[in-house]
Amino acid sequence: EEPAGKFSRCNSGGEGLRAAPRTGRRRPGRGKIVATGVCHTDLYHLFEGMHKDGFPSVLGHEGAGIVESVGPGVTEFQPGDKVIPLFISQCRECRFCKNPKTNQASGRHAMMASADSRFTCKGKKVLQFMGTSTFSQYTVMNQIAIAKIDPTAPLDKVCLLGCGICTGFGAAVNTAKVEPGSTCAVFGLGAVGLAAVMGCKSAGAKRIFAVDINPDKFEKAKVFGATDFVNPKDHDKPISQVLAEMTNGGVDYSLECVGNVTVMRSALESCVKGWGVSVLVGWTDLYDVATRPIQLIAGRTWKGSLFGGFKSKDGVPQMVKAYLDKKVKLDEFITHNMTLGQVNDAIELMKHGKCSLSSVSTPLSFLLQKWPQLERRVRNSI
Ligand SMILES: NC(=O)c1ccc[n+]([C@@H]2O[C@H](COP(=O)([O-])OP(=O)(O)OC[C@H]3O[C@@H](n4cnc5c(N)ncnc54)[C@H](O)[C@@H]3O)[C@@H](O)[C@H]2O)c1
Ligand SMILES: [Zn+2]
Ligand SMILES: [Zn+2]
Repeated sequence: EEPAGKFSRCNSGGEGLRAAPRTGRRRPGRGKIVATGVCHTDLYHLFEGMHKDGFPSVLGHEGAGIVESVGPGVTEFQPGDKVIPLFISQCRECRFCKNPKTNQASGRHAMMASADSRFTCKGKKVLQFMGTSTFSQYTVMNQIAIAKIDPTAPLDKVCLLGCGICTGFGAAVNTAKVEPGSTCAVFGLGAVGLAAVMGCKSAGAKRIFAVDINPDKFEKAKVFGATDFVNPKDHDKPISQVLAEMTNGGVDYSLECVGNVTVMRSALESCVKGWGVSVLVGWTDLYDVATRPIQLIAGRTWKGSLFGGFKSKDGVPQMVKAYLDKKVKLDEFITHNMTLGQVNDAIELMKHGKCSLSSVSTPLSFLLQKWPQLERRVRNSI
């Protein structure tokens, strides 16, 4: 417990970014972030989403860390606990949390840049991206938005369970509910798509089509269980037709892990009529998605999945355990290990499709030397 108003000064090369653990009824606790991944959603926020009111903000939402201090009334956590920040929280009390059909949470648990951020820089408020902000040495979280994990878990690996891997894996297992012996197609082979491939395999799929316009991704997809590889650029006809021909009418399940509405349509139309299920995982809120009604009337189901359908506080520790029990892979997703000072380079790599996931660890006091540069870039993009 700490006196109200005492703050952590993140080592910021004089820029003065601060994370203050204000006390109060929202029961925050402050944690030191040890490792973080970079996810396409950070990139989306930075370059594509262009939410004008979403800056300045500290990005990053896929991290792992250690609780440093807790506010009054926090009973679930103690300093020293290993934790994963959650961008969708689970209060266990609201209408949504109590309903086993969803992992959505009600109003106050909303995502994206949280209005009551504890970050300030030179006296000015800095937003907390997705309520987490893991590109920082310290962050302040509500206890409903952190999951306590096995103390033996390696933080530089399990940080990936804070978003991409749970998202893709759960989209296959929880949302699509892939059945043994089925045929699946995964569109987009970033970390999310590769995790979806791993989910299909773990659910017992017999054939898994990995679809990407970047053929460099196929080798990795094989590691996670893909059996067939399709590059839409190699074909003149629509990819749904190509897949229909290869599967006698279409796949049982398809997962869109790109965030492109044209691909979303192709993924739906690649499913077999009668019972095909297509899941939207890729993120965009800039465009409408469309198809002819007959596609659905003919028995296909179109669904969406947020964070793989996992109720976050329950699901993340289970996925950490599955990793420790060697039931899910994580190490294989990591293409680069970098320092927080190189976070902009990591973003650059992701932009150019050179990495499926970077694990950015923070052995020393970084981010905030680099943070002003991140802010500059953000300003240029809006
Ligand atoms: N629903 C959720 O809860 C959730 C959570 C995390 C991320 N996401 C979203 O999931 C998506 C994937 O994230 P990521 O980090 O794996 O991204 P990524 O950029 O690493 O991977 C995207 C992949 O899609 C491929 N691709 C691009 N255009 C394509 C096309 N026309 N056809 C086939 N493949 C194509 C790219 O080559 C790349 O391999 C993003 O939109 C991200 O915002 C959603
Ligand atoms: Zn993410
Ligand atoms: Zn709730």
